[in-house]
Amino acid sequence: MKIGPAVRRLLPAGAERKASRLYRSVFVDLGKVAAVLSRALPKDAFVLDIGGGDGDLLNLVLEARPDVRIAMVDIAVSVGKFLEPRYSERVELHPGVAIEDHVLTFAGRYDAAVISDVMHHIPAQYRSGFLLNVVKALRPGGPILIKDVEPGHPIAALGLFCDRYVSGDKNVALISEEQLREMSGVSLPRHTASEIGLLEMDRPNYLVQLQFE
Ligand SMILES: C[S@@+](CC[C@H](N)C(=O)[O-])C[C@H]1O[C@@H](n2cnc3c(N)ncnc32)[C@H](O)[C@@H]1O
Repeated sequence: MKIGPAVRRLLPAGAERKASRLYRSVFVDLGKVAAVLSRALPKDAFVLDIGGGDGDLLNLVLEARPDVRIAMVDIAVSVGKFLEPRYSERVELHPGVAIEDHVLTFAGRYDAAVISDVMHHIPAQYRSGFLLNVVKALRPGGPILIKDVEPGHPIAALGLFCDRYVSGDKNVALISEEQLREMSGVSLPRHTASEIGLLEMDRPNYLVQLQFE
């Protein structure tokens, strides 16, 4: 049995969101992630959020950026559970959908993509294929913004342990900012890749922007 999901099922809805925020705050300051993301999103963007999960991070982005709309695509059957109702008209939900299926219908639809704390859940051999499908979903020149966790830090080690033994994902493996930039360099169309300021604000969390030509 997965401990984290089992505990969450026992909590009433409001308490679950509070408990989830508290738990997450050990590893990451979502306010800082949202601030860096919000600075990087293009004006009036229709954003693809892959692996958006409960959507708590998106509440902060939607508040900071009233001009953006977001489509959440996640392989999980429940998505956007913590989204505030006042944002529902600006968010499209695609639960239980893999990116490779989503792009069959929605290639070239989005102005930007966000991938937050998802890469380390994807087995290493599938990561470049996953990103290639994300590129297909973007209009030419749309950026991909990837938030993940730099290995080699005590918080990163604790997060990995909790992902494995609390969340129950035994296959989780971190990818460093450098490994991510190396992988995108060899497998994706021409682009520049840079860390855009989260690492300095909230180490070991980083946010890499892939900017396509
Ligand atoms: C740790 S949660 C991150 C939630 C949210 N992005 C955030 O940062 O708050 C990881 C999410 O990635 C999703 N996920 C894992 N692998 C995926 C894949 N191949 N395609 C889409 N979503 C995936 C999981 O279902 C889960 O909702």
